[in-house]
Amino acid sequence: MRRKLVIGNWKMNGSIAKNQLLLEAVIAGVQDLHHVDCVVCVPYPYLGQAQALAQGTKVIWGAQNLCASEDGVLTGGVSPHMLVDYGCQYVIVGHSERRMLSHETDDTAAARFIAAIKAGLTPIFCMGETKEERESDWTDYVVGRQLDSILRRFGPEVLAKAVLAYEPLWAVGTDNPATPEQAQQVHKFIRHRIAKCDAHVAKSVRILYGGSIQPSNAPALFAMHDIDGGLVGRCSLDAQAFVAICAAAN
Ligand code: PGA
Repeated sequence: MRRKLVIGNWKMNGSIAKNQLLLEAVIAGVQDLHHVDCVVCVPYPYLGQAQALAQGTKVIWGAQNLCASEDGVLTGGVSPHMLVDYGCQYVIVGHSERRMLSHETDDTAAARFIAAIKAGLTPIFCMGETKEERESDWTDYVVGRQLDSILRRFGPEVLAKAVLAYEPLWAVGTDNPATPEQAQQVHKFIRHRIAKCDAHVAKSVRILYGGSIQPSNAPALFAMHDIDGGLVGRCSLDAQAFVAICAAAN
């Protein structure tokens, strides 16, 4: 049985004052949810704040990106061990916004992915197709290629230490979520592809859906056989909505 997981991706939002209110409300809201893991991925400057507030609570914290290399000459870089230093357990890798706006490729995402694993962090590896790709019936090809960038390089075993997220680009940051059936179809495809390499890993790896998750559509999405939780953007900035989504997973 895979334990449900809900991850809030705050993106480039927050302030010390706002984060405190938000985190305190989330911590209080999820404290009695015993069947779901709740994570917030916060901007780098607020990792220390997240650690101070969430330590000893049910809320786990993580980051939204990392550099693939160790400490060294890389102005503006944040290394895997720095995230570990701040108690992070999770880190998002290959989010579509980084693939589109920050020149992330399958190769650079794979390098970050394995750097996270080596540091003992759990990468949340994002995959998803554009609207045009879906309309051309290329969803399986695109998602398969993104998944293979990990599977082919590192083998299926590493996925036992990772989380996968299917995030169709046409659903991220829009008000146009995938239907539970549309999402389930791709999740099943992902799991089958992994099963061809390793049936045990395929059964145990958590595959999250992301893209316009709200309290209203979360229950139906999370009821799908291969959907093990969600990666939540906008609604993770609203404590009441985020807690409601965690409760749906619970
Ligand atoms: P959204 O973002 O929930 O605002 O669509 C999801 C994501 O980018 O992870």
